[in-house]
Amino acid sequence: MKILYVASEVTPFSKTGGLGDVAGSLPAALAELGHEVKIVTPRYASIKTDQLTPTGHHLELRFPFGIERGPILSRRLSPNLEVLFLENEHFYGRGGIYGDAWGEFGDNHRRFAYLSLGALQAAQRLGFHPDIIHVNDWQTGLVPVALQRGYQGTALARARSVFTIHNLAYQGQFNKHVMEDLGLPWELFNAEHGLEFYDTVNFLKGGIQFADALTTVSPTYAKEIQQPDGGASLDGLLRRRQGVLTGILNGIDVHEWSPETDTYLPARYGANDLSGKAVCRRELLRRFGLREDTHAPVFGIVSRLAWQKGIDLLLEVLPQALHSDIRFVAVGSGEGQYEEGLRALQHHFPQQVGTFIGFDQGLSHLVEAGADFFIMPSRYEPCGLNQMYSLRYGTVPIVRATGGLVDTVDGGLDGNGILFEAFHPTALLAALRRAQALYAEPERLLAFRRRGMGRDFSWAASARKYERLFASL
Ligand code: ADP
Ligand code: GLC
Repeated sequence: MKILYVASEVTPFSKTGGLGDVAGSLPAALAELGHEVKIVTPRYASIKTDQLTPTGHHLELRFPFGIERGPILSRRLSPNLEVLFLENEHFYGRGGIYGDAWGEFGDNHRRFAYLSLGALQAAQRLGFHPDIIHVNDWQTGLVPVALQRGYQGTALARARSVFTIHNLAYQGQFNKHVMEDLGLPWELFNAEHGLEFYDTVNFLKGGIQFADALTTVSPTYAKEIQQPDGGASLDGLLRRRQGVLTGILNGIDVHEWSPETDTYLPARYGANDLSGKAVCRRELLRRFGLREDTHAPVFGIVSRLAWQKGIDLLLEVLPQALHSDIRFVAVGSGEGQYEEGLRALQHHFPQQVGTFIGFDQGLSHLVEAGADFFIMPSRYEPCGLNQMYSLRYGTVPIVRATGGLVDTVDGGLDGNGILFEAFHPTALLAALRRAQALYAEPERLLAFRRRGMGRDFSWAASARKYERLFASL
């Protein structure tokens, strides 16, 4: 099959979270299965052009607010995998992917309309006739809308669209004047069959309404989003479309995330010999200026600091947990209140707590490898990749039983991680205590680590599921 894959971030070129990881690895897995895949994504200012080649093709998109033009650059990753970068100085020439220190960019509707319509025009300019157009999250929600409305009689008309929801809470909601700004016909501004959402324009809703098939990133999350408390006010629509909605668990890039080959680490290791993990642990504590003590378990997080992630719950519980001899390291950035909270925690417990506020790829690998436990107290979690990285690195995940965390972490007595149910301080504290008890039993701990390391989280199985879905369309 010929597959056009559109995403607003693609690892290793751009990344703010798991979407980037998935967009960097699923297309590669599909290409390995023999499909011809082209990824379309913006060429943000942070992406260097020295490894990109001009295709010689340019976009020209006419919007009511003006005509937008820009070249299409390319990077071939393998014989059947190519990344097409849309260049547009005015939209992507600034620092930041969705926003900067002052918040979300005010013209994101234009920036991602350019990506969505630009991806379709790029396919046309390059003479690429996809069977499947696979798009992701609200930033690409206008693709299915445009495909159904504007491409009859063109080579793109036969393409089927698949819309993957990575996070239902981010919807791309804008003032209704955006309809006119982008030249969207007002008849699409209706709640029943269009993009209207409580008198605003909702790009995610557009994708959900118009795509031929919908997927989300774990089976449990697929069920949760059809319930009122997990549905972010779109559960009714999702129930209406449940016939075309499936949950397919994300895989991980096992080349990037493997303790046996990870070049970010001071030592490498596998399930048979974990001595390299002890070296990573030592280095992690050194980097955070914490004293090493093998009796004190090291807990870590690497996270976007957002409401979703339950950082507030963690901050509530840690002062109590830190009365016992444990270490805690955090790598994250995001909302100011959580950044402040983590800094304050470090201030109060300088011997036990280390924080790095910012985005650092190498450090995220070191935490996965060097920590004994990895905490994800998420309010909700569509899939979550970090717990899979943790399992692979022999780091026992402590996760709340929600979304993809349920589908990946086995909290049984002979499991590979620790699960807690209620989003409540007592439940999290009890989970941390269970971790400490586990840590005190080296044999049992080793068995937990080994079971996690033995599980296959590669894309092999899930890429096949996407393949079958595409074929069915
Ligand atoms: P989400 O996509 O909701 O942020 P995931 O668990 O799916 O959650 O993916 C998060 C990804 O982003 C992981 O690869 C994680 O390592 C990375 N990440 C998050 N915060 C940081 C950070 N501050 N520095 C480096 N990597 C980060
Ligand atoms: C979103 C979700 C996360 C998921 C990622 C990749 O960012 O928050 O749970 O793993 O997308 O699908």
